[in-house]
Amino acid sequence: MTERTLVLVKPDGVERGLIGEVISRIERKGLKIVAMDLRMVSQELAAQHYAEHDGKPFFNSLIEFITSGPVVAAVVEGPRAIAAWRQIAGGTDPVEKAAPGSIRGDFGLETQFNLVHGSDSPESAAREIKLWFPNL
Ligand code: CMP
Repeated sequence: MTERTLVLVKPDGVERGLIGEVISRIERKGLKIVAMDLRMVSQELAAQHYAEHDGKPFFNSLIEFITSGPVVAAVVEGPRAIAAWRQIAGGTDPVEKAAPGSIRGDFGLETQFNLVHGSDSPESAAREIKLWFPNL
């Protein structure tokens, strides 16, 4: 079934020059990029995007981090795109969870600075895509 997912290259991924690496892995997998831009994230968008983490101990630093520099936001489409992108990205903790060969497994060290984001369900994908690309 064709799905769409939101993909972010977070400020650490952009800063480290990994935009091309991420795009390349998406394309090599056979997924299609249907929208993409480089932008600064407002406090408002950050808080809405991470609303489910409001109240957690790392919430404030998460907002500070995602608004600290430009991010690449993209909508990626394909069969089982949500799971496919999560496989490419690797688990949230780059050391304990992300497999070698995934983006986080290959390039990440810390859970907060885990380079990329992907929607975790069809419901999250719909909510996040509407938030980041309201005109799509
Ligand atoms: P992401 O998949 O974008 O969604 C939530 C983010 O919160 C996650 O990636 C991490 O960047 C961050 N995060 C999750 N758990 C922790 C944690 N224990 N400490 C710091 N940051 C976290």
